[in-house]
Amino acid sequence: LAGVGAAATAWPFINNLNPAADTLALSTVEVNVTPIQVGQAVTVKWRGKPVFIRHRTPEEIKEAEAVPMSALPDPQTDNSRVTDTAKKVRPEWLIMIGVCTHLGCVPLGAAEGENKGDFGGYFCPCHGSHYDTAARIRKGPAPKNLVVPPYEFNSDTVVTIG
Ligand code: FES
Repeated sequence: LAGVGAAATAWPFINNLNPAADTLALSTVEVNVTPIQVGQAVTVKWRGKPVFIRHRTPEEIKEAEAVPMSALPDPQTDNSRVTDTAKKVRPEWLIMIGVCTHLGCVPLGAAEGENKGDFGGYFCPCHGSHYDTAARIRKGPAPKNLVVPPYEFNSDTVVTIG
C-alpha cells in the first residue's frame, strides 16, 4: 500500500514538469460571441480562472465613458479597457478576469439576475466591492480594477483569450 501511495503522489509532480498537450491547449480559449445578446454576459474558464465576457448596452458604454478620471481609485479610461492586443477598440465587448482584486473572490454580475452593485457592473459580496460598467473599482476595499486578460478578436464574432 505504501508503494502505491508513493507512486500516486509522485505522478502529479512529474506531470507538472512536462505540461501535457491538453494543459497547453488551455493557455488560450476561443469563444464565439454570437450567442451573447446585448446586455448579457457569460463566464468562460481560462487558465483556471473565470473570465467575464459582457456584451455592453449603449447606455453602459455611455455611462463608462462619462466617468471623470478623478472619480476613479484606479484611473483608466473606458477605451483602454476595451482595446484588444491588436489595438482594436470594441466598446461593446468588456472582457475581464472575474477575480476581485481585493482577496480574490469571484464577483457577481455576470449571470442573469445577479447583483451588479451600485455602479451597474460587478459586485463582490465578500467584502462589498463595487465595479462599474468598465469593471473599474468604484467603492469598497478592492484596490484595483478587474484585470483585462490578453485577448484578440479574430473576426467580428470570435475572440481568442490568452
Ligand atoms: Fe472582493 Fe474582498 S474579495 S471585496
